[in-house]
Amino acid sequence: MRRWFLATALACTVTALAVAILIAASSDEPSDKPHYNKAGELLRPENYREWIFLSSGLGMNYSPAAGSHDMFTNVFVPQWAYQEFLKSGGWPDKTTFVVEERGAQTKGSINKHGNFQTTELMGIGVEVKDSGLPDKWAYFNFDDNKTATANPKNACFSCHEKNAAVEHSFVQFYPTLQPVAKKFGTYREAAEDVQ
Ligand code: HEC
Repeated sequence: MRRWFLATALACTVTALAVAILIAASSDEPSDKPHYNKAGELLRPENYREWIFLSSGLGMNYSPAAGSHDMFTNVFVPQWAYQEFLKSGGWPDKTTFVVEERGAQTKGSINKHGNFQTTELMGIGVEVKDSGLPDKWAYFNFDDNKTATANPKNACFSCHEKNAAVEHSFVQFYPTLQPVAKKFGTYREAAEDVQ
């Protein structure tokens, strides 16, 4: 009888431990990592608006086909990747970056000068750092599409590789990250020079 009791108690403890480990593992596993479908296409990151906001640009134009009017760009990274960056000045594997493009407007409500962002979402650009990919860094565009194939290297990769201050990311334009990268020595000063 006593043995039976001990065995049951042990079984219960083991089960409870296993459940605890599973829960801990699943909450440790950040959901904001790149996900691909069977065809290797990247799934659209849906909750990027809940990530860390790095900065916005107004009318920054780096696209070969110049836009007809200025728009805002808002850059986001997942919280977990941001925390890693603060500790090392570099980006962990599986970091996803989003640049959101939004319309700009001057006249509206009480505003007379300057620009504010509108509800017009013009699309998002996504960059992933993923050691599972052939070039480690890949670039995608989303509009209404839920999945996207990587853009050719000369469309995005080359400019990021050549001009970004930290790895492939334009930390020279992200005011709170710039001092962090400089502190850790991961900042490429030459990227600040006019090209
Ligand atoms: C000629 C250079 C150039 C090209 C080409 C380019 N980018 Fe960028 N990208 C930038 C600059 C500069 C920034 C800084 C932020 C901004 O513009 O608001 C940036 C920022 C980004 C960010 C935010 C994270 C980071 O790396 O700093 C993403 C995501 C991004 N670009 C995606 C793309 C995608 C997708 C393409 C191809 C369709 C692309 N970029 C092509 C220059 C470029």
